[in-house]
Amino acid sequence: MPDEHTENIFEKELLKESIFVDRNLLSPHFTPKELPFREKQINEISSILAPLVHKKKPNNLFAYGKPGAGKTAVTTKVLNQLLEFSVSKNLGIFGSYVNCRTHNKKYRVMLKMAKDFYPEENFLGFSAAFIYEKVLDFARRGKDLVIVLDEIDKVKDVDDLVYSLTRANDEIKSGSITIIGISNNLMFKEQLDPRTKSSLCEHEMVFPPYNANELKEILTQRAQKAFKQGVVEESAISLASAIAAQESGDARTAVMLLLRAGEVAERKNSSKVTDEEVKKAKNKVEEEIILSMISTLPQQEQLVLLAIASLSLQNKGIKKITGHIEEGVLFSGEIYEEYTRISKAYKEETVSARWYREYISELEMYGLILTTASGKGIRGQTRLIKLGFDAKKIKDAIEKEIIA
Ligand SMILES: Nc1ncnc2c1ncn2[C@@H]1O[C@H](COP(=O)(O)OP(=O)(O)OP(=O)(O)O)[C@@H](O)[C@H]1O
Ligand SMILES: [Mg+2]
Repeated sequence: MPDEHTENIFEKELLKESIFVDRNLLSPHFTPKELPFREKQINEISSILAPLVHKKKPNNLFAYGKPGAGKTAVTTKVLNQLLEFSVSKNLGIFGSYVNCRTHNKKYRVMLKMAKDFYPEENFLGFSAAFIYEKVLDFARRGKDLVIVLDEIDKVKDVDDLVYSLTRANDEIKSGSITIIGISNNLMFKEQLDPRTKSSLCEHEMVFPPYNANELKEILTQRAQKAFKQGVVEESAISLASAIAAQESGDARTAVMLLLRAGEVAERKNSSKVTDEEVKKAKNKVEEEIILSMISTLPQQEQLVLLAIASLSLQNKGIKKITGHIEEGVLFSGEIYEEYTRISKAYKEETVSARWYREYISELEMYGLILTTASGKGIRGQTRLIKLGFDAKKIKDAIEKEIIA
């Protein structure tokens, strides 16, 4: 029986005042309308797509840059404006935004496009050829299609996909298909078949990382709307911007730092977000970033990293001539062997040792591993590799990613 005289333990919760006005504005899924410091990129994409307004086929576009540089936000903003304009002027321009992390095969990409163009119909279970024809049919009716392939590096048969779409464009007499590919994998382009590369990269665009001042401005604007007035101290914003700029110039990290700092303050019933909360948030965010970075790595790099994590967990270490064992340090050659074994187990192809070395350099660039040339105390010359973060967490994250 409820006791009238005792206060319910949740009563306090209702009385608590939140420091947020709208926490959703700090969610990684929220995209603001205004995108400061991206006018140049917005103008560039708009002018590439502008011929559509005159019924002319634009060049395909490949946009790349590091994570959190505003690629998705800018592209979707321009596409949405184009589609709105097309509706108001009856221009017959249609768009399909495909996140290739979810739609990671040609068939799935085509299915997503078909669903966007024929919202009333159900295509589940239809053959790839049928779906391809349906998409073509849509364009054949004189419609101009813009296909955004976000995180295009995730498409397993990407050469095949781009080839089919460009061939489709050549085949249709009226209407057109324009591709916008987006990637944060700076090596992706080099792995493409030369023919795919030249069709996709008719126009190329780079999104540079944001600097500390730019991030500060972005965060100030966001904090004004997301938090109550006077909650976030200016120095906390400067610190969050400096941290994010130093790590990667990534606006997503910066916004995430602000959100987590707010949560830290809220949990201790503080009405202010100061440097202290930002510092606490930094560790949390770092872990989240590493895990999400892993999920955006190309699959072959994930497999190499998985090999490193698995061997590290086996507590292997290198034995120096002195007999001293250095834990967690691995030979490049043994990792390549483990990688070969793992990729076979996952029924994935195995890349050559040359590509393997490229992947190792890339993983090192991301700070996920540390490497050194074996110096004194080791027989022979080889590269030594050590994981930069907790092996168990990394292994779990990759296994989840690969199975999904
Ligand atoms: N110029 C900007 N102004 C305000 N917020 C921005 C700006 N650029 C990016 N952001 C914020 O940063 C987040 C990340 O941006 P976005 O998703 O466009 O990055 P991306 O370049 O696509 O990264 P990834 O390669 O990881 O997909 C967005 O949610 C958005 O809130
Ligand atoms: Mg993106």
